[in-house]
Amino acid sequence: MKTSARVGIAAGAAALLCASLAVYAANGPDIALGKRLHNQSCLACHNPSVYTRPNHKIRSLAALRTQVTGCRQAVGVHWSPAERADVIDYLNRTFYHFDEGSRHHG
Ligand code: HEC
Repeated sequence: MKTSARVGIAAGAAALLCASLAVYAANGPDIALGKRLHNQSCLACHNPSVYTRPNHKIRSLAALRTQVTGCRQAVGVHWSPAERADVIDYLNRTFYHFDEGSRHHG
């Protein structure tokens, strides 16, 4: 099958990364896990009201990914690509509601 052939080639290049992406793609987002990871690491500087403040600055899914990456690096917490995607999905589905289009990889 075409898809698995592509995954196989990519996995050769970056086995770990692609393995976790494949698991993520197979299982879909885990919003509960995303929320848990978020609440463990992301409430030190702001609470979730920052996501819904009237002039909140995030206006697209791409901007949300960038912001989460920036804030995650500021916290110094390490998440797998799947965990990162779960946090982004949690934030998007709970607060931002951007159109997700095709599945993203965080
Ligand atoms: C070191 C302090 C700090 C921590 C910890 C932190 N953030 Fe932030 N975050 C900020 C600041 C400061 C802003 C506001 C930036 C601005 O207003 O320009 C912000 C804004 C945001 C926004 C944009 C809000 C908007 O206006 O739409 C998102 C999304 C976000 N943070 C996600 C996270 C996530 C996810 C985590 C956990 C990984 C996290 N933050 C942890 C400092 C932090």
